[in-house]
Amino acid sequence: MPGRLGGTGAPAAQGHPCRAGHFFIRAKICRVSANTRPTGQLSQTYDSAFLKACRREPVPHTPVWFMRQAGRSLPEYRKVREGTAMLESCMRPDLVTEITLQPVRRHGVDAAIFFSDIVVPLKAIGVDLDIKPGVGPVVARPIRRREDLAQLRDLTPEDVPYVTEAIGMLTGELGGTPLIGFAGAPFTLASYLVEGGPSKNHEHTKALMYGDPELWADLLDRLAEITSAFLKVQIEAGASAVQLFDSWVGALAPADYRRSVMPASAKVLASVASYGVPRIHFGVGTGELLGLMGEAGADVMGVDYRVSLDEAVRRVGPGKALQGNLDPAVLFSTTEAVEAKTDEVLAAAAGLEGHVFNLGHGVLPTTDPDALTRLVEYVHTKTRR
Ligand code: CP3
Repeated sequence: MPGRLGGTGAPAAQGHPCRAGHFFIRAKICRVSANTRPTGQLSQTYDSAFLKACRREPVPHTPVWFMRQAGRSLPEYRKVREGTAMLESCMRPDLVTEITLQPVRRHGVDAAIFFSDIVVPLKAIGVDLDIKPGVGPVVARPIRRREDLAQLRDLTPEDVPYVTEAIGMLTGELGGTPLIGFAGAPFTLASYLVEGGPSKNHEHTKALMYGDPELWADLLDRLAEITSAFLKVQIEAGASAVQLFDSWVGALAPADYRRSVMPASAKVLASVASYGVPRIHFGVGTGELLGLMGEAGADVMGVDYRVSLDEAVRRVGPGKALQGNLDPAVLFSTTEAVEAKTDEVLAAAAGLEGHVFNLGHGVLPTTDPDALTRLVEYVHTKTRR
């Protein structure tokens, strides 16, 4: 079996998992010197269409994966999850491995996304929270005053051994298919922590942000530390790319984003820059923020379906790949309509330096899985070079 990068019980890399130039793995993992062809898991994924597109290199076809591909749209997911609560599932490496692999097997997507949730690192450091079915994360004691920050201690790899173990198992199974690790960005995590649960208007979050900027900055900085540590665990265990989800930051105006959120997101993205794995950054309704979110330090900007990719690239500027952006609701339409809307996305992506095909937000739970499989096949066929 090829050597894996840092997975639990993985053999030490026999050769050299790094590659000079573009991507390198920091000395802690990569103990062998540069300039030879990579071996082990990184070499297996290095030439994948997904990582090439992220690096803005020529690709054999446009790579495809779907946000929320590992989840409720699949009957095999519902079956293995039966009787196990969401957070408990995230802590069982066998289940995490199986669920992460399910959409890869079924749809032939170009990348796997690690099955977990953005609140897992918060749970791991002892925040009293749960994920309620059909609702989302719910926090027992919302964070609104300075003393509440005591709930947020640093995260260490020992807090999430199940993540390291699952990624070790996964990279062995995935072979040449890259694994995307992920985390919630400070604003989106803060929104759950301050509101106490999902929120439409984020009123308590904004009240804190405007009313006590010092406490807000301290809260976001704490969350940036925790998020950075969580991403590092995933990369050191073998994730080939990471996505930072700032799902709800589209609720902010650009000036507020720049002043009150961007420093914390930039800190997270900078903290993993030296690993050389692509950093994807995504939020919903973030058309007005695309330029600033790109400036925060992403290599790939995720674009939701409200802004076409040719307009998005004007807002983001050169030097970044884009990811997106078919409206997930389109998948409820006819095959012809799905293909026509996909053609529109591909046409808008024609001039991009790098394009990763995705939906403009996560797969909706009642999506027909066959529509997703057909979509992967369609994009691959239409873009084969
Ligand atoms: O993308 C994947 O397939 C990997 C797994 C993944 C989950 N959550 C599994 C999950 C990922 C990447 C996430 C990220 C996540 N979690 C985000 C950012 C992405 C986004 O959609 O904007 C956010 C905001 C959360 C918080 C959260 N957790 C929400 C809003 C929900 C859905 C609530 C519901 O049930 O409608 C969850 C629960 C959750 N996370 C589920 C899954 C598969 C559903 C739980 C179940 O199957 O019972």
